[in-house]
Amino acid sequence: MASLYSPPTTTTNTSVAGLPCHLFPKTSQLFLSKDINRRLKSKITCKVIMKNDDSQNPKTTNNDININNNKIDRRNILIGLGGMYGTATTLGDGTFLLAAPMQTPVPSACGPADVPPNAGNLNCCPPLATNIVDYVLPPTPPTLRVRPPAHLVDDQYRQKFTRAISLMKALPASDPRSFTQQANVHCAYCNGAYSQVGFPNLDLQVHNSWLFFPFHRWYLYFFEKILGSLINDPTFAIPFWNWDTSAGMRMPAMYTDPNSPLYDSIRDPAHRPPKVLDLNFDGDANDPSDQQMISNNLTLMYRQMVTNARTTSLFLGQPYRAGARFTPGGGSVENTPHGPVHVWTGDPRQPNFEDMGNFYSAARDPLFYAHHANVDRMWFIWKTLSTNNRDFTDADWLNASFIFYDENAQAVRVRVRDCLDTTRLGFTYQNVDLPWRNARPAPRTSRVRVRSVTQTPEAATAMESTTSTVVNFPKPLNKTIRTNVGRPKKTRSKKEKEEEEEVLVIDVEVKRHDKYVKFDVYINDEDEIPSKKFQVKAEYAGSFVNVPHKHKHGEEHGHKTTFRVGLTELIEELGADDDDSVTVSLVPRAGKNNVIIKSVKIEFAS
Ligand code: C2O
Repeated sequence: MASLYSPPTTTTNTSVAGLPCHLFPKTSQLFLSKDINRRLKSKITCKVIMKNDDSQNPKTTNNDININNNKIDRRNILIGLGGMYGTATTLGDGTFLLAAPMQTPVPSACGPADVPPNAGNLNCCPPLATNIVDYVLPPTPPTLRVRPPAHLVDDQYRQKFTRAISLMKALPASDPRSFTQQANVHCAYCNGAYSQVGFPNLDLQVHNSWLFFPFHRWYLYFFEKILGSLINDPTFAIPFWNWDTSAGMRMPAMYTDPNSPLYDSIRDPAHRPPKVLDLNFDGDANDPSDQQMISNNLTLMYRQMVTNARTTSLFLGQPYRAGARFTPGGGSVENTPHGPVHVWTGDPRQPNFEDMGNFYSAARDPLFYAHHANVDRMWFIWKTLSTNNRDFTDADWLNASFIFYDENAQAVRVRVRDCLDTTRLGFTYQNVDLPWRNARPAPRTSRVRVRSVTQTPEAATAMESTTSTVVNFPKPLNKTIRTNVGRPKKTRSKKEKEEEEEVLVIDVEVKRHDKYVKFDVYINDEDEIPSKKFQVKAEYAGSFVNVPHKHKHGEEHGHKTTFRVGLTELIEELGADDDDSVTVSLVPRAGKNNVIIKSVKIEFAS
């Protein structure tokens, strides 16, 4: 996508090609130059576009927001204006779409976050920066920092790491390198302490979109550099919680010693070792044998890293540009296991699953950083699994920026584009087995028999129609919904399947995002209510997860988003390539009264 205009030289309130001036908030830093104006004149239209929007009800007024006393329909400006790197792109119908990357938040504009009442008057803004500089990556060190799996480190490493964390905890809370401030970074970027630059009524949110992986990569980068500098060891690398391998599917022992600075008492006491981690945790007890749990976990990893990761946005999350009102949907791993591991670790005796189970408090637990190191490692590994697994090239992603403090307590501005290559950042991950690579699920045998015996399309159709019908949406998800969804294309060739992924797209409204919300998606499942016990099977497609958090601006009436799973591989596993439709079961597992399903459809994406 080419950048069509350059940094602003004027803030004159210029009208843009037919868009009324009042669409441009006065605080916006950027307007199209007159020249560009002319070029776009005949093509720009206001009739656009939040992809995940409520297309069934386009005239509804509750999407209206008020900027500078002018009522506008937020959906009509797509996403906006007010950026150094604004771009315009052409949609399939010839419509121009104005867009821009998320701007670097302004620290002096950091305000009170929206945190739960029991958090007191927590201020999670960083110390005020006197000057902010563009971060210049140091030259790649001769030996990379190697992040080790937390359950395999030796005593020497453990002592070094423990010392680094104690030193960080001993810094005064006003020091941006202190553990308190490091934990607050997460709260500031997740609970609405920052509004979007140019959009004072909109939160900047780093979850549930394509910002998720790069934001957390930079966050851990500086956390690691600060620890290294505190112990005077620039080779120091943080550990990762290796929850994608059998031996790593427990809380790593070094974090569970109450006398260690790695300990946090605000965790679920029932989940101390030797309890096996549930990567698909529903918020209540689910106790299969350890063996069964491990096998569930490995299959889940296969689903998320392979089946549900066949396009860039399925894995990294959906585009989120400046001016976006709602977070558009996270990638596979962000939903699961990232979300369930947060809630599994948090303490159910606390009002909001603190610490790990709520975004405002999550990073107070040292285990947070090990969890996120493994999440980050999944991005690193994903790019090695297939030549198709590539980062976005969209300028609005590459140019999105954040602010952190580096190891010298200097405020720095970083861009997404500079964090894509871990070697350039000076680190890598210790190379360990990936047992989930072979954990592709098998279909339930009875289903296969039905499929292979009922060869005729008539028989297959008859069977489908006895098991489910088409449901009318929107519909609250308070009990299992089963619906038939038509497949726009079927019987595709191998090449077609490689070029375009068949994607199930579910528009979701979460009514209370301060609650844990989770639902599972099954395809062609025979059971009226698919059982969690049989999760290790081809029918399980994925899980939508909302980790409890709050927003400050713009989303007080609930949170709209989308959830997507990849169907191409799964449908092969089920032998359903030639079917006209699939039966989709949506099974609420947590937060039953908090979800409305707006629509369920199949799209094709490359
Ligand atoms: Cu910023 Cu695991 O969340």
